[in-house]
Amino acid sequence: MCGIVGFTGQVQAAPILLEGLRRLEYRGYDSAGVAVQHGGAIEMVKASGTVERLAEKTAGGASLPGECGIAHTRWATHGAPTDTNAHPHLSGDGRFAVVHNGIIENYAALRAELLSEGYAFASETDTEVVAHLLEHYYDGNLKRAVMRTAARLEGSYVLGVLCADEPGRLFCVKEAGPLILGLGVGENYFASDVTALVGRTKNVIYLEDGEMAELTPENISVYDRTGREISKSVSHVVWDIEAAEKGGYEHFMMKEIMEQPRAVKSTIEPRLRNGRIELEGFELTAEEFSRFSRIVITACGSAYHAGMVGKYVIESLCRVPVETDLASELRYRDPIVGPDTLLIVVSQSGETADTIAALRECKARGAYVLAIVNVVGSTIARLADSVLYTHAGPEIAVATTKGYTTQLAALYLFAVWAAEKLGRIDDARYNELIAELDALPARVQRAIDLNLHVQYLAERWHEQRAMFFIGRNIDYAAALEGSLKLKEISYIHSEAYAAGELKHGTIALIDEKRLVVALCCQTALFDKMVSNIQEVKARGAKVLGLAPEGDRRIFAEADDVLFAPRGEPLFAAVSEMVPLQLFAYYVARENGCDIDKPRNLAKSVTVE
Ligand code: G6P
Repeated sequence: MCGIVGFTGQVQAAPILLEGLRRLEYRGYDSAGVAVQHGGAIEMVKASGTVERLAEKTAGGASLPGECGIAHTRWATHGAPTDTNAHPHLSGDGRFAVVHNGIIENYAALRAELLSEGYAFASETDTEVVAHLLEHYYDGNLKRAVMRTAARLEGSYVLGVLCADEPGRLFCVKEAGPLILGLGVGENYFASDVTALVGRTKNVIYLEDGEMAELTPENISVYDRTGREISKSVSHVVWDIEAAEKGGYEHFMMKEIMEQPRAVKSTIEPRLRNGRIELEGFELTAEEFSRFSRIVITACGSAYHAGMVGKYVIESLCRVPVETDLASELRYRDPIVGPDTLLIVVSQSGETADTIAALRECKARGAYVLAIVNVVGSTIARLADSVLYTHAGPEIAVATTKGYTTQLAALYLFAVWAAEKLGRIDDARYNELIAELDALPARVQRAIDLNLHVQYLAERWHEQRAMFFIGRNIDYAAALEGSLKLKEISYIHSEAYAAGELKHGTIALIDEKRLVVALCCQTALFDKMVSNIQEVKARGAKVLGLAPEGDRRIFAEADDVLFAPRGEPLFAAVSEMVPLQLFAYYVARENGCDIDKPRNLAKSVTVE
């Protein structure tokens, strides 16, 4: 939520900062701004709207001279997305500029204090207090002023600080939000994540909460809360620039849908060795593992939907009770969690604030934490006891696709591994499931190839004002994600229901105008789904059926049909999601929506 970037070097900063913002735009895109040092002063330009508007206002950055600066792309929390509320924010004397990601929870008290001391506020943001505090505490020593300012703040604050009186010098602070440092040759950077830096450097330092860094073109120093310099290791990022660009596709979302066969393969292949699953980084023995009497899966958004699929699969294979809980609920409900609990935390970004809080809450109660995460070195990965990285590569579109399917693949690997460890499946079943996992990437490709007609179905149905997705068992969990995909990018109202539950109220909304998307890939429940399809058809609804490839029975039931390749029904959610993603994509495209940047959303939700 909000993207920040800072640069100090020998070349013009603004074009580099704008390029960084473009890559961070998935974090928020309602306004943007850039500030640079020039001629002993700070020059700043801000624009409501996208980073492109800021680029237009600054001729791609060319109109802003200076080799050191900071920039921000915003997802508004305090104050509307106007030019004035956009970051950076300046101190009253114009000597300090600040960019911020997070929420300063005590900003009202600080604002009142600063007002009483005569400081005037230009914006409605919580961030502006930081700029005034810096001015207040600055006595010629910027490091001390930043430390004193940070010590006054409560909440989450990742800050970038620029001072007119300190040429070439930047400070940044991390507290409860993502921040990395990039090391170049004669230039250095800070940013909310590595995608802002690909193409410029692959050498990064991951900061921890409470750490602060000082950057000049030649040097980076990192300090702890007390101001003591600490040594940090440098990591090498393996993603390259192609991974963060559209590669000929109209939208990142379509590129990422098409990347799924490869992404799912990257999750699975390195963990299948000689016909066995090896989960490097999660190497508990059968005895250690059997101390867990229950598993709790926690996550937000699509990652939560992946967790719901995981519950069905793990319970079915391992016969261990699994609870799936929204992180924003779990953290506040005094959960019954202890040393006998395995907590599985699922997150693409590894930075979702509620998920981090739920993890901390359960860890404090003694739970063992296994994280399923995409972004290497992210907060959740670092807080967990063990990590299974999904290796999906950078996901830029706000609506997750390969992030979700690779989370499923990781959950399947875990479920089969655990079932074998616990002795709940025999060798024949184990081998059968390994073969199914091995076949999954090809099935995802087949799911793409089978559904090229989805574009025409979208043309037919894009004018719907509301849709319903129904399914049973794993198909219900998949329906939740299919429905979310549609609503978040097309703004069409959509709800997912366990098919058997529809008649307990929601069927009142079904009439001859409605499209019901019926997921029928749990073959054992096909007949039950047919009954539910009949119920909605009897009320005039139209049905888009999703069935296993070659199951001709669906033609008798549905008006239109999507197909998922046949395979192990326990793993159906991966391949059945592909046509649903494509359907959502083409419906949104028909409706002229901004697919990669849907209104009001952000990809990485680093506030509660
Ligand atoms: C946001 C994104 C979703 C994502 C959710 C959780 O809402 O738009 O796509 O599922 O956050 O994010 P995470 O990074 O924890 O998986």
